[in-house]
Amino acid sequence: MKSIKDINFAGRKVLLRVDFNVPMDAEKHITDDTRIRESMPTIQKLLADGAAVIIMAHFGRPKKGGFEPELSLLPVAKYLETLVGRPVKFTQSLLGSGEAEQMAQNLKSGEVMLLENIRFYPEESRGDVIFAERLSKLGDCYINDAFGAAHREHCSTAVIARFFPNDKYFGFLMENEVRNLEKLMHDAPRPFTAIIGGSKVSSKIGILENLLDKVDNMIIIGGMRYTFTKALGGKIGNSICEDDKLDLARELMRRMDEQGVKYYLPVDSVIGDKFANDANTQTVPSGEVPDGWESMDCGPESCQAIRDIIMASKTILWNGPAGVFELETFAKGTNHIAQSVADACKQGCFAAVGGGDSVAAVKQMGLANRMSYVSTGGGAMLEYLEGKVLPGIKAIQD
Ligand code: 3PG
Repeated sequence: MKSIKDINFAGRKVLLRVDFNVPMDAEKHITDDTRIRESMPTIQKLLADGAAVIIMAHFGRPKKGGFEPELSLLPVAKYLETLVGRPVKFTQSLLGSGEAEQMAQNLKSGEVMLLENIRFYPEESRGDVIFAERLSKLGDCYINDAFGAAHREHCSTAVIARFFPNDKYFGFLMENEVRNLEKLMHDAPRPFTAIIGGSKVSSKIGILENLLDKVDNMIIIGGMRYTFTKALGGKIGNSICEDDKLDLARELMRRMDEQGVKYYLPVDSVIGDKFANDANTQTVPSGEVPDGWESMDCGPESCQAIRDIIMASKTILWNGPAGVFELETFAKGTNHIAQSVADACKQGCFAAVGGGDSVAAVKQMGLANRMSYVSTGGGAMLEYLEGKVLPGIKAIQD
């Protein structure tokens, strides 16, 4: 497949789908611009070539079927101007009024325009072919750089590609995500260790199952581990647990044994008597949590054991924190893992980090650029790791 780096887009009108679904505070200030920054290489390349760039993006999940001021992309357009160093044309009028179409039509080489939140059109999420065709008429080729939305079979992320059978490409961000994920799933140097956390087993079943025949070690952390601990007969006090998934946890452990996957559950836990930074805490063996107490982090013995596994690995996938890391009192386990993964990278390990909370943790620690790869996709990365075909990727590869 051709990379955009080998194509000159001079004089072309490029329809570029990005994922600018970034967190904002109440004053509409962007609090994490990673996704925008990560799409800059694609935008800069197109502008340097002399293309006219029409950007499509979504923000949030509009429900009303039309313009919703609080979900406008206007703050993003303004922010984007500071990054591209030139005006970003933007209109809150939706397609159909003629204004956005006119703006796109008049867009010149080296100019950039951002369309208003593409999800203001209910047709977008329905994958309506007629709407996709209408969108396609705004440009003369299509680039998808929206990995974060690649699991959505929407008009601008997938359906539109069929109108550019010979002129559809991945942007640099997409190319990078796909290359790294493929390495992880099909070409990972061994030993390969997956560190999977998060609060619920039920949301990680797909990943755990898909990784069974790929990894050597599976480290199970976060809230979901207590379902495993309870399934093994441990006492977990008031710790989070999915009682209807105890059999599933036993079945997963049986299958890991059968496949020769070494699984590791933290042996000690930091427990608290309330969900707050000023909780009383103690460290106990993981299967001996007293009633009235809740386990909220890995203990020091587990941290050391996890570090040893990490340092002996050549590939690491980390998805999900070790504990309630948003409370400083219970962030040590997650921080310890982040530091260990960064140290492993330093000695040549390939480590991929994905999923909102683990990515937030490495950023909070200032370690994001020490990882081999930090995914911009939440749900998209999860679905990829579950072995699903992502429509946004397939539409370009087909
Ligand atoms: C995300 O933030 O994960 C992506 O932008 C996709 O958003 P969605 O889950 O609303 O489709």
